Amino acid sequence: MTDLLVVGSGFFGLTIAERAAQAGRKVTVIERRHHIGGNAYSEAEPTTGIEVHRYGAHLFHTSNERVWEYVNRFTTFTNYVHRVYSTHKGQVYALPVNLHTINQFFQAAYTPDEARALVREQAGEFDVKTARNFYEKGIALVGRPLFEAFFAHYTAKQWQTSPEKLSGDIVSRLPVRYNYDNRYFNDTYEGLPTDGYTAWLERMADHPNIEVKLDVDFFDASQPWNKAATVGQLPIVYTGPVDRYFDYSEGALSWRTLDFEEEVLNVGDFQGTPVMNYPDADVPYTRIHEFKHFHPERKDVYPDDKTVIMREYSRFATRDDEPYYPVNTDEDRKGLLAYRELQKGEADVHFGGRLGTYQYLDMHMAIGSALTMWRNEFDGSDD
Ligand code: FDA
Repeated sequence: MTDLLVVGSGFFGLTIAERAAQAGRKVTVIERRHHIGGNAYSEAEPTTGIEVHRYGAHLFHTSNERVWEYVNRFTTFTNYVHRVYSTHKGQVYALPVNLHTINQFFQAAYTPDEARALVREQAGEFDVKTARNFYEKGIALVGRPLFEAFFAHYTAKQWQTSPEKLSGDIVSRLPVRYNYDNRYFNDTYEGLPTDGYTAWLERMADHPNIEVKLDVDFFDASQPWNKAATVGQLPIVYTGPVDRYFDYSEGALSWRTLDFEEEVLNVGDFQGTPVMNYPDADVPYTRIHEFKHFHPERKDVYPDDKTVIMREYSRFATRDDEPYYPVNTDEDRKGLLAYRELQKGEADVHFGGRLGTYQYLDMHMAIGSALTMWRNEFDGSDD
């Protein structure tokens, strides 16, 4: 007997399942992949044992006390602090663009006020209010030299579209700091799960009231937990793509996807840092991850003569690709509103998570919104 069906075992689905199980409900979680955890899933690369984030690098960070308290029930965190570097025209710079980046780039020793004045002057070439596209807006925000070096081509590669053809709406600001702080995230809490993401995700699902069924697709009519057999029969939390649920009746919402090219190298250290960005137009990938650097505390466990790297390429997704980042065109926004109307007609189906709501959510946001849904739509508590 099941009291609640959860479709999808990412952070959103598992948070709901865990809360419901604690409240005494029997929960069935179905997952169409062969593993739990959604996009946060990680596993050891078999020849080196190095933990690889299968769907792209995942760094946990939050300033939400409720979420921080909740996630610490399932895992401890290392003291990892995320920092990113960028290789532009054969030189390595620190990101986000900060006073060190600016001084290195202009071969100067500007004070914060001098750097601010320089950027303001260079940004005067265009006005943010009248900028006609991403190219003009980017220059209006940080000036042409910094924009062209660190943002224009990087973003063009992400969107496979030239900066002049991209809408200015994709940015409201570009990060520039006038001090030497190169911590990537500004959040109060940050770290990586000590035993890895999958151990954390498995602990969330480890409750006698939770049954997880892998390799089960909600839209596969041949299996018992399919849509036609379950909607209206019991409460459902659906975390798959909202357009798929309604058979794309209001059009397919557009997404960007990523391709990852993984390589095991016979060197101890490939790039000396976890993430190196490549913002130049003549390099086809956007960044390279080197996973062993996410866990310096595992240096005695990881091999010292091998490393795992992953080059990341970005492109528009087809229906068969993994949807990663919502594109969010005007058409998409209209489609989403139409799907939200349709949702109202679905008896006791609760749409959540990044796919179910068509929005980019960091992990802490997915967990936070699941806790809120549990409290508001199921009358549950956080305890
Ligand atoms: P998620 O996608 O994880 O889970 C949904 C699950 O539903 C999937 O397992 C899917 O297989 C399943 N499903 C879908 N349709 C189904 C069906 N029909 N039947 C059965 N199951 C179905 N966040 C962060 O905080 N720090 C970071 O550094 C990053 N980095 C990052 C990199 C990349 C490349 C991406 C794409 C995302 C991130 N994130 C991130 C975001 C993070 O991945 C995100 O917050 C969580 O995946 C959200 O969890 P959800 O449960 O909403 O979705």
